Amino acid sequence: MRRIKRTFFVLLILVFIGIQFVEVERANPPVTADINPPTEVKNIFKNSCYDCHSNETKWPWYSKIAPISWLIVNDVMDGRKQLNFSEWEKLYSANRNKLKKEILEQINKDEMPTDIYTIMHPGAKLDMIQKNTIKKWVSQ
Ligand code: HEC
Repeated sequence: MRRIKRTFFVLLILVFIGIQFVEVERANPPVTADINPPTEVKNIFKNSCYDCHSNETKWPWYSKIAPISWLIVNDVMDGRKQLNFSEWEKLYSANRNKLKKEILEQINKDEMPTDIYTIMHPGAKLDMIQKNTIKKWVSQ
């Protein structure tokens, strides 16, 4: 029994080492049309959203360790696809308005930033003042 356990443990370590060689792309493409709202709004987005919704992701050290890295890369790719502040000014105004409404909805429901993110970045959680600042911007 002990031998089986030890074999299993060694196997687990080998798998862990093995998956480190799976290549994942942690790319930050160029910023081409960064959003340009009032500074207080921009600061909130930079502080709470840019890691997943811009091309200026700050990749933490644990984003280099599989399998966590896979989850993070996946979140960033998904996030950018839905909303990319680095390409905001290229959007048609109808699309911008739609996204603004979605942003408001997400922060009102406390869905964004995601829970898993705020565990690692407690300072990214939005307080009432920040939510109101965004609300005001959306309604303008
Ligand atoms: C940890 C990464 C992460 C952070 C940080 C983050 N998001 Fe997201 N966001 C995602 C992912 C992944 C999706 C796409 C999947 C989903 O809808 O859950 C998404 C989707 C969205 C959508 C589209 C929702 C829809 O259903 O159409 C909006 C709007 C949004 N996020 C706004 C924000 C705002 C505003 C912030 C900052 C206050 C933020 N997000 C912070 C990862 C993130």
